[in-house]
Amino acid sequence: MLSEFARDLIAGLATRPHSISPKYFYDIEGSRLFDRICELPEYYPTRSELQILQDRAGEIAALAGRGAEIVEFGAGSLRKVRLLLQAFKAPARYLPIDISGEHLRDAAGILRGEFAGLDVQPVVADYTQALQLPPARGTGQRIGFFPGSTIGNFTPEEALVFLQRAAEMLRGGALLLGADLVKDPQVLHAAYNDAQGVTAAFNLNLLARANRELGANFVLPQFAHYACYNAPRQRIEMHLLSRVRQEVAFAGQRFSLDEGESLQTENSYKFTIEGLRALARRAGFRPGPVWTDPARLFSVHWLHAP
Ligand code: AVI
Repeated sequence: MLSEFARDLIAGLATRPHSISPKYFYDIEGSRLFDRICELPEYYPTRSELQILQDRAGEIAALAGRGAEIVEFGAGSLRKVRLLLQAFKAPARYLPIDISGEHLRDAAGILRGEFAGLDVQPVVADYTQALQLPPARGTGQRIGFFPGSTIGNFTPEEALVFLQRAAEMLRGGALLLGADLVKDPQVLHAAYNDAQGVTAAFNLNLLARANRELGANFVLPQFAHYACYNAPRQRIEMHLLSRVRQEVAFAGQRFSLDEGESLQTENSYKFTIEGLRALARRAGFRPGPVWTDPARLFSVHWLHAP
């Protein structure tokens, strides 16, 4: 039986324009490359968001109140949630939701060791789908945490559905949401075309992964990383461009790519503060305070879920 990755890549190469979901970036090698991206001088989102969380941890903790539980959508970097757990007053529980059970176990083990007495309850699930959380404990608020502007990797329709589900799930609490901001296209361009070529390697790893996992025969030097800002749509688009006319084969099928033809691998939407607040309102939230870094590169939103 074909894996979901194989099925999605076949579907993406069989239709034009070719595309594939960015979720397939994140195998072990892709996650390692993404961690390196977060450290790059050009990639401002991680640094800017960490600075906001650090500077505003006290205010955020006051909004969350005593005995809150944190529901994190994805269990990526522990650095961000650690800032919240340190600042919150007697956090009742931490519920990270991730599709990778292994990733969750590691994260849970580390945090249990660091925060004695913290109840860590991992939830193995795809947070882009409807899901049931364990019943709330205690009387504190349930606070969702979705950092990193991962919301920008959804289509606008997916972002709305995600926020609607989150608003339901967090009723009586709030969502703390990180969203990258619209800005000078040159700053955006540099962030996705770094000088060391780490983002290019991250993009190309999708083809390397297909070779490793699906026995595909992509010749990586025959593809070029291409990332550009589509200003009218307020999004960075990432593509893999075929440098030559070529054929690739896997899973018993052959696909042709023309010279210059693209396989689109990611959209990364950028938001205005008002645009994000309007989207949140449509999803059922009541937007509260918004914080940005001094250069206004990135925003963190407190969204009440009434
Ligand atoms: C995970 N996500 C928010 C990143 C972004 O900026 O859209 C993924 C990424 N793609 C290229 N660089 C980083």
